[in-house]
Amino acid sequence: MNSAKIIFLSLIAVLFPFMNFAQELPVYQDISKPVEERVEDALSRMTLREKVGLVHADRSYGAAGVPRLGIPENNLTDGPSGMRPEMVWQTWIHAGLASDSCTAYPALICLAATWNQEMGMLFGKSYSEEAAYRKKNMILGPGVNIFRTPMNGRNFEYMGEDPYLTSQMAVSYIKGVQSNNVAACVKHFAVNNQEHLRTTINAVVDERTLNEIYFPAFKAAVQEGNVWAVMGAYNKFDGQYCCHNSFLLQDVLKGQWGFDGVVVSDFGGTHDTEEAIENGLDLEMGTDLGSIEAYNRYKMADPYIDLLEKGEADEAVLDDKVRRILRMMFRTSMSGHQPWGALASEKHMADSRKIAEEGIVLMKNEGDVLPIDLSGVRRILVVGDNATRLMSRSGGSSEVKSKYEIVPLEGIRNRAGDRAEVIWQPGYSVNASESAADSLRKEALDAACTADFIIYIGGLNKELYQDCEGVDRQSFSLPYGQDELISGLAATGKKMAAVMVSGNSYAMPWIDEIPALVQAWYGGSEAGNAIASVLFGDVTPSGKLPFTFHGKLEDCAAHSIGEYPGDGETVEYKEGIFVGYRWTDKENIKPQFAFGHGLSYTDFSYGKIRLSAKTMTEDEAITVSIPVTNTGKRAGAEVVQLYVNDVKSSLPRPVKELKGFKKVYLAPGETAEVIFTVGKDALSFYDPSVHGWVAEAGDFKVMIGSASDDIRAEAGFRLADRR
Ligand code: BGC
Repeated sequence: MNSAKIIFLSLIAVLFPFMNFAQELPVYQDISKPVEERVEDALSRMTLREKVGLVHADRSYGAAGVPRLGIPENNLTDGPSGMRPEMVWQTWIHAGLASDSCTAYPALICLAATWNQEMGMLFGKSYSEEAAYRKKNMILGPGVNIFRTPMNGRNFEYMGEDPYLTSQMAVSYIKGVQSNNVAACVKHFAVNNQEHLRTTINAVVDERTLNEIYFPAFKAAVQEGNVWAVMGAYNKFDGQYCCHNSFLLQDVLKGQWGFDGVVVSDFGGTHDTEEAIENGLDLEMGTDLGSIEAYNRYKMADPYIDLLEKGEADEAVLDDKVRRILRMMFRTSMSGHQPWGALASEKHMADSRKIAEEGIVLMKNEGDVLPIDLSGVRRILVVGDNATRLMSRSGGSSEVKSKYEIVPLEGIRNRAGDRAEVIWQPGYSVNASESAADSLRKEALDAACTADFIIYIGGLNKELYQDCEGVDRQSFSLPYGQDELISGLAATGKKMAAVMVSGNSYAMPWIDEIPALVQAWYGGSEAGNAIASVLFGDVTPSGKLPFTFHGKLEDCAAHSIGEYPGDGETVEYKEGIFVGYRWTDKENIKPQFAFGHGLSYTDFSYGKIRLSAKTMTEDEAITVSIPVTNTGKRAGAEVVQLYVNDVKSSLPRPVKELKGFKKVYLAPGETAEVIFTVGKDALSFYDPSVHGWVAEAGDFKVMIGSASDDIRAEAGFRLADRR
């Protein structure tokens, strides 16, 4: 090599690191730039038609991106408990892919029953890793509509009757999901509390009730969970469809609460182009599928372009919608931070099982029938259709294509191994004629004679008119003649436990006849193993009821007052704020099982309650503490619940309201000091005369208990007058 060449090459080597070969990235593609800058830059490059392309669906679960600019499509997935199978793009027919089998997580009512925000985080994190793996940038969940009546076919997808519990659990789920740069979409805003006539019914709910019962979980999702999307409800509120309801979306959600994310319509829930444009809808999703032309006919597609081109719609309003969608994308698929994810991994299945185990509620356990001691048991008879029924793949939009699902019988067999013979009798059938039902029952009763232990596995299922989207239940009783069957099995005098798989409450005419009852919900992929681990004592149950189990339907306010399901056009929530335990407390009705109820295999004692002060001002908070001890022989967890009572108030208030809870894990003999902070928010009610929250000076009571009907300690304090 000659010296000129050597000098040239050495120069290149020295200068190389300083040479800029990278093309300058446009701002919107530069992940180091602030989201708002990226949004404005992308928006400034888009044509009007490209913008409209972003605000409506172009397939069953997606909306266009901007191919010219490299902005990806939006890729949504149902539902709250795991991914819905992929659909053929323009239909609701399963695509039958080999690649979309995933983890089914428990139904959200089971998550709520854990009363544990850590489980909410785990759920959201684990599930969003599955979504990320399949390149989804939005999960259509959680559902947070309040349990107003046990007839609602979708209660299993929601988180119970209490606004505080629902808010806490929803926020933890949302934080978990969004920690992986996948958007959560909290639904259905608002007052979608029945499936009956859900697409037309007009809910009439007063301002106080909205703010105290039906809004808090949505507000917490926005303000504490920083949720990136909200789905409107199908029904009307005050005569206007919720998906383009100016009060709900403009005044409350985007106005008062400052929501900066995307309002997504429920599918097919958009009815009017101008209302949708003006009243705050950002992304129209739908069910009027069939062809690309069908999507172009959507209310916010070609009809929107027409109005814009005629100058009858303001482009600035469109820009606001597009900004919100872009913001969500820069937080998710274009953040540069979405993880690779994983699908149906062992870890995710274990997460799902853990949540299912923590949510199972031990309702009754006389004579310590549970946990089952295998030493004295040779033959176990399992009875019931739900012992073998797959649950996660049905029920409506929350269906999940689980890679596998362990049904209860399999879980029990896995656990019993060869230590006991496990036989199964259906006992009842979903389709049986009367005579077939009689013989199924008889066969189960005959088999009971030779069993050492009977495990009954029944409840509801995901069939129409049970726990199923689109329709409500038709009866509060258990279906398929289960009541007679359970009584018959109980009459054999054998050791017995009933395990109910459902997302709703039901009548229990046999409750005094059976020694043990377990409420197991829908537990997802690992449901059967989770049930078995509780039945055999590998797990000490620690779930608590997220809603009241009424003795009879008339004990529920919506039914007692006669305001369910409405008159065909309107349903008026005449019971106001008195939903669930707020009603049974007020009317002195003894529930079958109270809100917050749940037993353990160990015992907990509560010590002396202590308050940091006897008086507080509005700007202060008091600390409430109580020692809780595991006095039994097993490790276990207790959910310590804090309720507040306003002794005297200018408006009627509930006898008690949940304002705090903590789940504590304790070894035998261990004590934990459980500490709560009670501030002004916990003392306030919504006063419609001032359109705001008010804490009235005076006496308050704080109650700490193991359930809403099992208060172990209480103490009084005063909120001082404002000076
Ligand atoms: C449900 C939504 C769901 C959507 C998409 C609607 O019928 O109400 O909760 O996300 O369908 O499947």
